[in-house]
Order: sequence, then structure tokens, then C-alpha cells
Amino acid sequence: MNVLVDGRRPGRRTTGGEIVPKPAQVPSGGLATVTGVARAAAVQHACTECGTASSRWLGRCPGCGEFGTMVAEALPARRQRGRVHASEPARRPPLRLVDVVAEETERIPTGVAELDRVLGGGLVPASVVLVGGEPGVGKSTLLLSALGSMASERRVLLVTGEESVAQVKLRAARLGGCDAVEILAETELDLVCETLEREGPGVCVVDSVQTLWSQEVGSAPGSVSQVREAAARLLRVAKENGIAVFLVGHVTKDGAVAGPRVLEHLVDCVLQFEGDRYRAHRVLRAVKNRFGSTNEIGVFEMTGVGLAGVPEPSELFGRSEPGEVGAAVTCTLEGTRPLLLEVQALVAPTDLAMPRRVGTGVDPKRLAMIVAVLARHAGLPLGGADVFVNVAGGVRIDEPGGDLGVALAIASAAKGWPVRDGVAAFGEIGLTGRLRAATQAERRASECRKFGLPSVLAPVGTPGAATCADTLRRALAAGLAENPV
Ligand code: TYD
Ligand code: MG
Repeated sequence: MNVLVDGRRPGRRTTGGEIVPKPAQVPSGGLATVTGVARAAAVQHACTECGTASSRWLGRCPGCGEFGTMVAEALPARRQRGRVHASEPARRPPLRLVDVVAEETERIPTGVAELDRVLGGGLVPASVVLVGGEPGVGKSTLLLSALGSMASERRVLLVTGEESVAQVKLRAARLGGCDAVEILAETELDLVCETLEREGPGVCVVDSVQTLWSQEVGSAPGSVSQVREAAARLLRVAKENGIAVFLVGHVTKDGAVAGPRVLEHLVDCVLQFEGDRYRAHRVLRAVKNRFGSTNEIGVFEMTGVGLAGVPEPSELFGRSEPGEVGAAVTCTLEGTRPLLLEVQALVAPTDLAMPRRVGTGVDPKRLAMIVAVLARHAGLPLGGADVFVNVAGGVRIDEPGGDLGVALAIASAAKGWPVRDGVAAFGEIGLTGRLRAATQAERRASECRKFGLPSVLAPVGTPGAATCADTLRRALAAGLAENPV
């Protein structure tokens, strides 16, 4: 780019012999062309995956490391004028906490028990909840049935940008009980906000936040600045008018809520709806929750008439075929609820120089660690074998209490010996091969007994365990059936 200073190129010698200064060296009187440089920067480049912004185009995003995700966007009009706030912020003195009056607001039951559980006991009025999930997982279905249940007590509004009113009507007919839900097919942000302010519903669902667009922001719908603007405006409207808002958001290929991660900071709760669209079971988990725990999960089953809650997932996921090689049952703790899960493993010989360790529902680093401890401390060399691990029902094991169950399944697959009948194993594995008791072990043990697995195998010091072991080697000896020990 050529920047001219008083119509001449910087660095060039003039006919008089003096050198034309660079823009920064121009004395204050000659700034006219420098303003032109500032105007050229009214475009920014933002990453479509994580929202990182940069003044110039980059092949690789410095925020998330993705290649080819930086796209040019016009800076928001307000930013171009160099002012973030249009009006002067009100000057308020700081308060002492003792002087703050905070009323405990009553939560709104959504009518979907599993959703209430994940939200921490119902929907908080004036909160903004982001629901993320892959297309087809059932976000629209879940939220429409929640709206249908809430409609008997308060006005509820569905803003649909993705589906037509007729499509929503067909879905509502399948679900039943949604007659009182009000619907608005609109994608223009100003009109959506205006309707919310005018009508003042108690609860609103925006499906999806990526379809909203504002004229003020120059870029296309779904772009980082549009989504960010939509979320920020809706947040303000929700707080000012006491409307609880659910925002539906798509997820990217690596599972983050699409586009800007900045959305996750803005909203009060982020719920992730997971599961295989080709299988019936779905898991809803809280990733962020300002009003409750983030460990709670809700389990659903997709049926012909919408999503049905599964109140006893242990019954469903905690079953293994007796005598089956490579399958073990473990008990993990998801928030307040112990959950029995079947872990399946396959150990197969490989010619690869770097054998594969593939885990579905298990953290890959944790899996690599368990395989290494099995090799080093339990005499189970797996260097020449691929190891695949799968957790039943699309549930993810997020806590170390599931380690022993995973190790037992892998050992069973490697040796070809089934796990003993009625055994459920839980406990954390240390790098030295020693076992550590899992948290809330007594509740886990009673869940195992409740679902017909009386032989609880757990680390020493676990109350209610039928067999206690201090090391991984001893636990495997006690848990596997054909073991000569
Ligand atoms: P949907 O809720 O539209 O998913 P999302 O909004 O997350 O994209 O639909 C999920 C899938 O569920 C869809 O493929 C159709 C299926 N489905 C049922 O099996 N039963 C039902 O009662 C409904 C409404 C949908
Ligand atoms: Mg949808």
C-alpha cells in the first residue's frame, strides 16, 4: 500500500534534496493522509471457529490453530467511529455486599425432568442458556416440548429462523401439547428484539442464533460478528425484560459451539446435547452453569413422539452379557448421580509402528496412561496391539473413577478371559500401579448392588466393596474369571 505524504512517496528524495518523512514522522499539521490508513483498517479478519480477530489475514488462526478459517468482516459501525458505548455510562458508586438486596427468584420448571436436572433444578428467570449440538441430535425437539409444557403457566415464544412455521407445526403435532406455544418466523435481530420487548414472554427459544442477522453489522448471517452481536443484544433484552432465553447453536466438527467461543462467556449456561443421531440415546450435559453444577447429565431416548427422559440410565447402559470377553461394567459419578456403564474393549495385533489407541467416551490421554500402566505394572504388554475402547450409550467418562473398569475391559480383551459374573469395578489408577479410592464410593457401590452387580471390585478402603485390591495387578487377578491366580 502506498501512503502518500502531502502527495509524495515517503523515503523518496525531493527535487530539493530533502527526504520525505514516513507517516509517523509527519508533524501534526500534515495528518490528512494518515487518516486514510486508519480508514483502511475498518475490515478485520476473524476466525469462524473460535472468533479470534486479527487486523490482517492469516493462513492459520493464532487462537485455535485451525487452517483457512480466517475470513474478512467489516468492523461493527460503532467500532469504526472509535466508540464502543453510544451513550455515557451511568456513574454508580460501588456498594457493600451487605447493602445488596438479592431476591431468591423461583425457578421455572421446564416440564422435562432431565432438562431441569441439568439446569440445576429448573430454568432461572431472565437467564440465557445456550444449547449446542450437532444437526439432527434433537435440540429443536427438546426445546419445543419444554416450551409446550411451560406454556400452561406463562407466555412462551419460539423464534424460528431455520424452519418454517409449517415445519414447526408438523413437529408440534408429533409431540402433542404444544398448542399454546407462540411462534415467530424471523431472522432480523432488530425485529426479534422488538417483539420480545413488546410481547414480554416468560420464556423464549431462538432457533438458531446463527440465523439471526443485524443490518448494523456488515457481514453475512452466521459470521462471528453477527452471532456475537445477536447474543449480546438478546442477553440485554433478556436481562432488562426478565425473559428466560434459550439460544440454539450449532457445533463445529470438534464439538465446540460453532463460531465464537465468546458466546460461551456471554451466556449463563451452556448445555451440550450429544449422541449419535443414528442411535436412540442422547446425553445432555452442562458445560457451564452459573446457577448449578456442571456435572449433571440428562439422558434421553428419541422415540416416534419426541424425546423421552431416561430416569434410570444405569438399567440401560450398565448391562454386559455374562461371559463376554472384553466387556466390563464400571460405575462413574455424573454430578449427583452414580451411573453404571458398560465398557467394551478390543485388543487386536497390529503391524503399525505406532499402534492405535482409540477411545470413544474415554479421554485419549487417560486411555494411553491406562495402557501404559497395564504394560508396566500389570504384566500386560500391548506394544504390538491396537486398543479400541468404547463406552455404552454415547456417554463420556470424565472422571478418574472409571479407570479400573476401563483397565479391566482391556485386560479381559487382551487375555481372552471374561470378567467374573456380577462384577462391577471402579477406582482410580495411579502411575505406580497402585489404586486410589474413588469419590463417593459408597453411593457407587450401592448403585452396583441395586442393579444386580453384588461383587463390587474397588481399591482398598472403599466402603461397601465385596473385593478390595491395592494394586492394579491384584484387581485384575480378582476380576477376571479364568485367571489362574
Ligand atoms: P431436530 O430436533 O430437528 O434436531 P436439531 O434441531 O438438533 O437439528 O430433530 C432430530 C431428529 O429426530 C430428526 O432427524 C427427526 C427425529 N425425530 C424423531 O425421531 N421423533 C420425533 O418425534 C421428532 C420430533 C424427531
Ligand atoms: Mg433444529
